[in-house]
Amino acid sequence: MTPQELVKRALEAQKYAYAPYSGFRVGAALLTAQGKVYTGCNIENKCHTPTICAERTALFKAVSEGETEFLAIAVVGCTRDGVYKRFCTPCGVCRQALAEFCKPDFQIVFGDDSGDYEVHTLSELLPLAFDL
Ligand code: THU
Repeated sequence: MTPQELVKRALEAQKYAYAPYSGFRVGAALLTAQGKVYTGCNIENKCHTPTICAERTALFKAVSEGETEFLAIAVVGCTRDGVYKRFCTPCGVCRQALAEFCKPDFQIVFGDDSGDYEVHTLSELLPLAFDL
């Protein structure tokens, strides 16, 4: 699967974003080692703390179905009026959650609706990651 295809899947998942408080709509698409894609969106809550990011929605969906080996994730994020100001990059909590299952060379694709994208690795985004 190409990075562009994975971004397309993230854009499809973004349609389900539940973001009435921030208005920031995020979609993610996580590629397993076997080539399956799990998608996720952000799901906000009026109490704030229960809010979950799109990346962890996708990751937890996958792990809860027995998947533990991953190659890449694509992330897209835009404001409520559909503006992609800059690439949406995973928050620190999501980087740490991904590091639990993904290798340092795991690819993180930032994309938008224009076809532009950038590919980074988990080790770039989470250097000196905590390990036991
Ligand atoms: N959000 C994500 O879903 N993923 C990210 O990588 C960054 C932030 C969500 C959380 C919240 O619903 C909204 O974006 C604004 O922070």
